[in-house]
This record gives sequence, C-alpha cells and structure tokens, in this order.
Amino acid sequence: MKETYPFKLKSLPYDYDALEPFIDKETMHYHHDKHHLAYVNNLNKALENYPELHDKTLIWLLQNLENLPEAIQTAVRNNGGGVLNHNLFFDGMTPASSKAPVGRLAEAINRDFGSFENFKETFKKAALGRFGSGWAWLVSDENGNLKIVSTANQDVPMNLRVNPILEIDVWEHAYYLKYQNRRAEYIDNWFNVIDWNKAEELYNNPIV
Ligand SMILES: [Fe+2]
Repeated sequence: MKETYPFKLKSLPYDYDALEPFIDKETMHYHHDKHHLAYVNNLNKALENYPELHDKTLIWLLQNLENLPEAIQTAVRNNGGGVLNHNLFFDGMTPASSKAPVGRLAEAINRDFGSFENFKETFKKAALGRFGSGWAWLVSDENGNLKIVSTANQDVPMNLRVNPILEIDVWEHAYYLKYQNRRAEYIDNWFNVIDWNKAEELYNNPIV
C-alpha cells in the first residue's frame, strides 16, 4: 500500500484457473489482464504531468480527491478507485477458502450481524441491490465496528474514512462470461472463494 507513481499491475496471488468452478479462468484473464490493467495505465496517464503527486500513495490520492487538480479528479477517482478496488478484490480471494470467517473478525461479525448467516444475507442484498456497476463492501470504523455498504462505479467507500475488509465486484465484467445476467448465482459462488484470513488481517491491521 506504500506504492507510488508509476503504479504497476499486481500479479494474481494464484493461477488464473485456481478459483474454478466458482470463478472461471477466462473471466480472470479478461478481468485482470484487460480491465485491471486499463485502470493502472489510465491512472498513470492521468498523473503523468503532475510530478508533485508522484510521491503520493494511492490511498492518499483517493482520500484527497477534492484537493487534486480539477482536470484529473474524475480520472483519478475512476481509475485510482479501479486500481485499489481490484487489488483488494483479487487479493481477497483464494482457492483454499476456510468458507467462514476466522478469529477476531468472526467474533465481530457475530457481534454486529447476529450470525454469519445474517451477515451473508445482508451482504448479498447489498451486492444485488447495487444498480448498474459497482461494489459491495464490508468495512470497519475506527472503533472496529462493522458495516456493509455499496458503492457505484469504481468509488471507494466513504472516501476511505472507513477501512475496507472484504469486497465483491458486481460490474458485469466480473461475471458475465460465466453467469450472464445471474448476478445472484455469481455472489453465492463467490462466497466459496473468500480469503477470510486476508479479511481478518485487514480487520486487525486497517490500511486507512
Ligand atoms: Fe472489475
């Protein structure tokens, strides 16, 4: 998260077919090698002529959008958000999912949502309810309280005044090849590949 300009495309922490049958290999290639790469390239292009921003981290840029030069605010919001969101999304999945939350995060989910089942239901509702393209998130505030939110397009939750723990991409590019218009089925399958260890790490060590 300390990375600065020029930003680089992060490699996947697993093989392209590792999340089969839940997320297919072809989708992973398009999603990572084309869509994610485009966000990285367009973010770098936006920042190219602003050397005063070249020592800023991505999180700083996204937390300070309104202070950026007006000419690049939208490009950084869309492409910088795209880079951060996809880094978190791809890193937040694993072929070796524990299938249920672990450790302190598991306790917090039970505390704030009543049960893991309730959490899943509420999270799925947020992901299904996002009209058009966007994301659903599990985030924590500075007191460690959990909340589920959704964002449009490549927006980050609340200008990153909250800490992202877990997120699902509900842009059609994330699921259309395998699931076509069946977003609910995609969400149900995604629950099988969540990296709960990674999620707990983000809960215990907030990135913002
Ligand atoms: Fe995506």
